[in-house]
Amino acid sequence: MEVQAAPPVHQAPPSTQPPHLLPPIFQSDTTPQLITQGAEALLYRTTYLLPTLPCALKYRPSKPYRHPILDARLTKHRILSEARVLVKCRREGVPVPAVYAVDEREGWVMLEWVEGEVVRVRVNEWLRRRKELGVEEGVEEEVLKGLMGRIGRAIGRMHGVGIVHGDLTTSNLMLRPRSGDAVNGEGSRNAGDEVLDGEIVLIDFGLASQSSADEDRAVDLYVLERAFGSTHPRAEGLFSELLGAYGTSFQGANVVLKKLEEVRMRGRKRSMLG
Ligand SMILES: Nc1ncnc2c1ncn2[C@@H]1O[C@H](COP(=O)(O)OP(=O)(O)OP(=O)(O)O)[C@@H](O)[C@H]1O
Ligand SMILES: [Mg+2]
Repeated sequence: MEVQAAPPVHQAPPSTQPPHLLPPIFQSDTTPQLITQGAEALLYRTTYLLPTLPCALKYRPSKPYRHPILDARLTKHRILSEARVLVKCRREGVPVPAVYAVDEREGWVMLEWVEGEVVRVRVNEWLRRRKELGVEEGVEEEVLKGLMGRIGRAIGRMHGVGIVHGDLTTSNLMLRPRSGDAVNGEGSRNAGDEVLDGEIVLIDFGLASQSSADEDRAVDLYVLERAFGSTHPRAEGLFSELLGAYGTSFQGANVVLKKLEEVRMRGRKRSMLG
């Protein structure tokens, strides 16, 4: 492992300012727009490559509190592993953004910009509209069931090619508009149902790995089930729709569903022990 010079330490940002210097290659770029600032990564929308081609720039700046060599190694590892997994998914036809460019030493990866919104936002919007319209819970949920099925199939495709995500939440699943969408979608439709239209695109592979272990796959499903439970308790009851679709999406999926029962039991025991 080569030893790199310590990266420059960036100052803690005042909250209204762009929080970090971008890597030198992007410093003349006038277009970056900060979309989110997670614990580890900053996500920008930029048209650096072509004025007509928006890209997602995911940048992991160095952490001043981590040892510089360890920090550089970790960042490099995360960036390369995320890019590698995305490329593999793309090659195998799993719906993920394309990788346009990578510089693992500088800590960034540039991805295809996915139009649309994350599932968390869309499901909340759908629930809000239904409430407004006075639709009762538990009725006319065909469209939400349809969405759960699409999510289950997308995860099944990913697992089927030997990738586990490691951080499945409704913020790491996007709904991308499809040109042919609307009018006669799934089941009966009501006003506002179109917010759940779109193709599922899996994002955020920073914690993903190559694995075909049933245990790892089951944990992926369990993490998402818990995430649904905490962000959309009303959608949690429909998780079985997701699992049903998952179960038929690749050979061996049923074994994973069995394993999921075990993982849930362990989770329950753990929470009882506090
Ligand atoms: N390719 C993309 N196109 C459009 N928007 C994106 C794309 N990738 C990410 N986003 C948006 O940016 C947000 C953050 O991205 P992402 O989930 O990859 O980063 P993170 O959660 O901060 O990273 P990590 O968990 O790897 O540290 C997403 O929730 C989504 O709203
Ligand atoms: Mg994320």
